[in-house]
Amino acid sequence: MLYIGVDLGTSAVKLLLMKADGAIQKTVSREYPLYFPHPGWSEQNPGDWYAQTMDGLKELLADCDRSEVAGISFGGQMHGLVILDKEDQVIRPAILWNDGRTSEECEYLNQEIGRERLSEYTANIAFAGFTAPKLLWLKKHEPENFARIEKIMLPKDYIAYRLSGVHCTDVSDASGMLLFDVRNRCWSGEMLKICGVRKEQMARIFESYEVVGTLLPEIAAELGISDTVKVIAGAGDNAAAAVGTGTVGDGQCNISLGTSGTIFISSKEFGVDKYNALHAFAHADGHYHLMGCMLSAASCNKWWMDEIIGTKDYAAEQAKIRDSKAFCRKDAGMECAGEIKDNGKLGENHVFFLPYLMGERSPHNNPNARATFIGMTMDTTRADMTQAVLEGVAFALRDSLEVAKTLGISITRTKICGGGAKSPLWKTIIANVLNLKVDVIESEEGPGLGGAMLAAVGCGEYASVEEAAQKIVRVVDTIEPDPELVAKYEARYAQFKQIYPACKALFDVIA
Ligand code: XUL
Repeated sequence: MLYIGVDLGTSAVKLLLMKADGAIQKTVSREYPLYFPHPGWSEQNPGDWYAQTMDGLKELLADCDRSEVAGISFGGQMHGLVILDKEDQVIRPAILWNDGRTSEECEYLNQEIGRERLSEYTANIAFAGFTAPKLLWLKKHEPENFARIEKIMLPKDYIAYRLSGVHCTDVSDASGMLLFDVRNRCWSGEMLKICGVRKEQMARIFESYEVVGTLLPEIAAELGISDTVKVIAGAGDNAAAAVGTGTVGDGQCNISLGTSGTIFISSKEFGVDKYNALHAFAHADGHYHLMGCMLSAASCNKWWMDEIIGTKDYAAEQAKIRDSKAFCRKDAGMECAGEIKDNGKLGENHVFFLPYLMGERSPHNNPNARATFIGMTMDTTRADMTQAVLEGVAFALRDSLEVAKTLGISITRTKICGGGAKSPLWKTIIANVLNLKVDVIESEEGPGLGGAMLAAVGCGEYASVEEAAQKIVRVVDTIEPDPELVAKYEARYAQFKQIYPACKALFDVIA
């Protein structure tokens, strides 16, 4: 049997065809535009997601035995507000997870409703980008659109609806709406009331591996597959990526270096971060997880390379960063040009970069935060600044790891996935800045593979998500932190930590 995983990302939809044993048969991707109608705002057209998904599916299925396709499921960008009218037409462009327009609404929710009550109702507090503050924003700024809402959906759920005709969502993605009672895995009546919405406007909730329906006959005909193909609820992209990297059950960790950067810690028990800096969400394996999310991760490097330096050759830029013994790993098939210096520049960069190009979520919760280079001198090179970008992202992930440590969580190793995980240098920096063993798995296709695995579980190919992870996910390499480099980065991190508090007041003025 064959299973399709749809990773509905921010820059593109990535589709993956998986055989029953977990082997990836084919991947296809299609891009769509991202709109920034004001600084700090971020929107996409759900119609673009659907058109590109359908187009990509046709290519994905072009040369396989289509009678073998049994199920389709999803990993999707989280938190996006998609609103449908009574004809199920999209009312306005989706407001995305990295949109920062809801400062006032978050202030209202966190201060006037109060963090304690929010945390009691949903296990989380308000962050700009979460769905509930966007509803409040819409109510105030676009009341005519708010009045027309018949259904409130998340990005991947809109695709599931177009394919199956069912208004559905899953527990992991619903967790990021601030409308969901995470502990009890149901909508929070209190939060719906606070946001002025009715339960009928919300989608039906499923566990991530549950079947929501089958393909609509016209969709099945368009794709040339059977209308008995099952549509499985799927998960938010981070929970799906965690499934795809085998981060399920208790105390496992995954780092995702996508447009956003996340550190994801799975847990069999429900738990809340007492500081509410980390999100406490339901996991796609039927349990729970904690997660720190930075809004710009691989996107910082993409911005620096594409927009500022003006190159597409990321590897060539990274090769200019002088090798260190920790970076130069022959077993990873890497060649070091010239003499290998034990004390290469890793851990000694005098330039720092704050990666807050879209404001920041975890742990600062500040849409006004801005990206910053600091520490340049006349001898600073382009390579130093490239390195600072990669290191800045690693330091910002470390901020979330530090919060997890204060909760008594002890993590010694992590998986890694996402576009940024293709860079051996970046993985090495992560291993040493966070002092974690980094397990590299066969495929970086986290959410797409996780989506296909959820489809396989939903179709009964595996008894549980944990069983699927155990049988499918294979670690192919481990990057061990180098104690000398860890010590150097420890000192750099102590400096990095002081930059945001020193700039914070200024960010408010600038924004
Ligand atoms: C998670 C988050 C991002 C998006 C990116 O809370 O906002 O990781 O899901 O797709």
